[in-house]
Amino acid sequence: MIKSICCIGAGYVGGPTMAVIALKNPHIKVTVVDVNQDRINAWNSQDLDFLPIYEPGLADIVAKTRNVNLFFSTNVDEAIDQSDMIFISVNTPTKTYGIGKGMAADLKYIELCARQIARVSTTDKIVVEKSTLPVRTASTIKSILKQSHNNVKFEILSNPEFLAEGTAITDLLNPDRVLIGGDYHTEGGKNAIVALTGIYLNWVTGDKIITTNIWSSELSKLTANAFLAQRIASVNAMSAICEVTEANVDEVAYAIGKDTRIGEKFLKASVGFGGSCFQKDILNLVYIAKSFSLNEVADYWEQVILMNNYQKKRFAQKVVQKMFNTVSGKKIVLLGWAFKKDTNDSRESAAIDIANYLIEEQAELHIYDPKVTAQQIFSDLERITDDNLQHLQEKVHIYNSTDAIFNNAHALIILTEWDEFKVYNYKYIKNQMLEPAFIFDGRNVLNSAEIQEIGFQYYGIGK
Ligand code: NAD
Ligand code: UGA
Repeated sequence: MIKSICCIGAGYVGGPTMAVIALKNPHIKVTVVDVNQDRINAWNSQDLDFLPIYEPGLADIVAKTRNVNLFFSTNVDEAIDQSDMIFISVNTPTKTYGIGKGMAADLKYIELCARQIARVSTTDKIVVEKSTLPVRTASTIKSILKQSHNNVKFEILSNPEFLAEGTAITDLLNPDRVLIGGDYHTEGGKNAIVALTGIYLNWVTGDKIITTNIWSSELSKLTANAFLAQRIASVNAMSAICEVTEANVDEVAYAIGKDTRIGEKFLKASVGFGGSCFQKDILNLVYIAKSFSLNEVADYWEQVILMNNYQKKRFAQKVVQKMFNTVSGKKIVLLGWAFKKDTNDSRESAAIDIANYLIEEQAELHIYDPKVTAQQIFSDLERITDDNLQHLQEKVHIYNSTDAIFNNAHALIILTEWDEFKVYNYKYIKNQMLEPAFIFDGRNVLNSAEIQEIGFQYYGIGK
């Protein structure tokens, strides 16, 4: 019977996941730990508006559970030693150095966690891989844990997380499935699977809990993300054909989605997928395939990334081309910076690449996002442009609201599908802009006929 859980990593996965586990398991003490003091302070902040992560429904759950059975701390050693089950939920970014640079997953944080668990544990533990990992990582973790000197027994499980940002809480409360990979042929492995299953059974029905061997579980997570990203790349590829043939990608997606074998979800053409995971997980898959000399497999999946890069560039080029082949010195409003709506996360957001392209074309950017901070936007731009903050501030302006943003603008570009962008008074907006006023709808959220009726030059994706 699990009485105490520790989760290493208080990020977009660790925070929301543990909040829901704590809510549904009031008898279990859940401690989320992180080396980032600022992040932990933010999780502990009195004002729930200052939680480090914005997710609809998250603040309510934190309000109910925090300091009841959910705790946030930087005391990693103590939390590890006091728990029966440890979730590893640290970041696994793409390597930026050495062998596998730009492709393989950087597992240094995972290894550090494993070494720390081995070093400080004095009682038996179940260690759960929550992070997304290359297939066979559990064998590395096992080898490290074997080095523990304290005569402690460890069981390793893989329990990948499938939540999507922006809908994390509903995804966690109503998952399509929960996947648990473990050594089901051994007594210890079976017991560990039962213990983790018991936690989920407090709100997820048994038919949704899938048990596999540990390698299938690790690989299923990469596979799920690859398939999801591939669907978007596929519909975006069709959007390019639509634009030259007068077909409409939304109509095409609707028509094919009605085929139950294809299904309706995840067929929304866009300026390109973003987020911290799709690209890194596919690159990781490509690297794994290459490392087994499965070069055709690697090339197949790499195309998803190449198509996504193409889509972002194609969109930015279209903006320039439609605006009489120059945006130099023109005021361009970017609506949205987050990689999707209902999150403050901008990691790998398509907006970053589009902005970079337009800056290279000497546009003057005026940016508004309801949740992403100016500090974050500048830091994203500093990284991609190699420009310093002072230089960037001369050509990029960030707004807290849209009050004064549209004055004398040449164009408006929608980069995130925030609901509020759909209901703006575009007639009023157009009156403030220069003629001809352009709208580039990178998310196909506006009614193109209505927008054209107002007098905008409207360009969506795939139509
Ligand atoms: P994140 O960067 O938001 O959070 C990771 C946290 O781990 C950071 O706060 C970091 O300080 C902390 N950390 C790193 N090393 C540590 C250590 N040794 N000790 C203590 N803390 C440490 O990352 P995330 O978005 O939560 O993703 C975590 C993992 O979950 C990744 O493998 C990711 O692929 C996977 N995942 C993410 C999502 C998502 O929507 N973001 C969904 C499913 C799976
Ligand atoms: C994705 C997966 O959906 C989750 O199941 C997975 O757990 C997670 O990655 C992860 O491993 O990190 P997330 O990236 O948070 O979740 O968000 P998605 O809803 O998948 O959107 C990803 C990107 O694709 C966004 O930029 C979104 O705007 C774009 N997208 C999504 C489209 O362009 N079209 C669509 O039809 C759907």
